[in-house]
Amino acid sequence: MEKSKVLIVGGTGYLGRRLVKASLAEGHKTYVLHRPEIGVDIDKAQLLLSFKDQGANLVHGSFNDHHSLLNAVKMVDVVICAISGVHIRSHQILLQLKLVDAIKEAGNVKRFLPSEFGTDPATMKNAMEPGRVTFDDKMVVRKAIQDAGIPYTYVSANCFAAYFLGGLCQPGKIFPSRDHVVLLGDGNPKAIYVDEDDIAKYTIRTIDDPRTLNKTLYLRPPENILSQREVVQIWEKLIGKELQKSSLSKDDFLALMKGQDYAEQVGLTHYYHICYEGCLTSFEIGAEGEEASKLYPQIKYTKVDEYLKRYL
Ligand SMILES: NC(=O)c1ccc[n+]([C@@H]2O[C@H](COP(=O)([O-])OP(=O)(O)OC[C@H]3O[C@@H](n4cnc5c(N)ncnc54)[C@H](OP(=O)(O)O)[C@@H]3O)[C@@H](O)[C@H]2O)c1
Repeated sequence: MEKSKVLIVGGTGYLGRRLVKASLAEGHKTYVLHRPEIGVDIDKAQLLLSFKDQGANLVHGSFNDHHSLLNAVKMVDVVICAISGVHIRSHQILLQLKLVDAIKEAGNVKRFLPSEFGTDPATMKNAMEPGRVTFDDKMVVRKAIQDAGIPYTYVSANCFAAYFLGGLCQPGKIFPSRDHVVLLGDGNPKAIYVDEDDIAKYTIRTIDDPRTLNKTLYLRPPENILSQREVVQIWEKLIGKELQKSSLSKDDFLALMKGQDYAEQVGLTHYYHICYEGCLTSFEIGAEGEEASKLYPQIKYTKVDEYLKRYL
């Protein structure tokens, strides 16, 4: 079967650039949206040019120009959107409604993967304010996709490794300490950590797979389902030293959260649900989902100890 032609929207982003790389590596004809709004952002321009050098096609298009989006989506079989959705960086999830309109009108797209790549928003109906905005907005996009009858796959990637492992699961930290770590509560709820390049590989692997059509693909690499304490133990083994430990109770965490600005509070809410409540591992995958490492055992995912070695 011929491989699908893929359009990546948000291709210069943190995850987007990895999706472009993985799509090219898997031999898909790959198109990357080139938005005029990047202006004179020289880093983005250079990144786009590097994609072109590697064989991608740059397609001009803007979220302010419906016809340009329509033209872009008409060129491909699959659209993957990796638009920003982290408040401390930028949160543009609802802009995707314009992409949904274009895909619906074009009528040729065989599958759309919206910008999700985190906690499954369908499991977060009771999430706390203000962080629930992330899940609510992603559900608004899902509803629009399904109302429009667009075939889809949602990728629930759980924790991006660099955000969570880098800081030993401590919010606001992205490099692991060699002295001290704050455990969130007892540090025992399990979360799931995935190398961002592996997220991209699983995502690209699934786009032509009929088993994940109109389903959620959950990334649960079995050896990367660990508690904060277990992550810390792996790091301690790597550095050959035990860290000093203190603990932050739920109540103290929530009180500290209240003092932060809105964008920080959104992120902290997510840490609360993941690290205190164990929301990523508190449910079984049902009939509407598939698990990536089971479907694609050929992908040798990066294990937590291998990932942490980059910080030595
Ligand atoms: N599970 C986790 O731990 C985790 C962590 C981080 C992110 N995520 C999720 O992953 C997805 C991607 O996040 P990311 O951090 O990779 O995103 P990002 O790097 O912050 O941004 C991705 C891209 O969004 C596009 N964009 C930003 N502002 C825009 C605007 N005003 N109009 C149009 N496009 C705009 C840009 O694309 P171009 O300039 O290339 O067009 C940008 O490169 C999101 O859904 C996010 O929620 C999950």
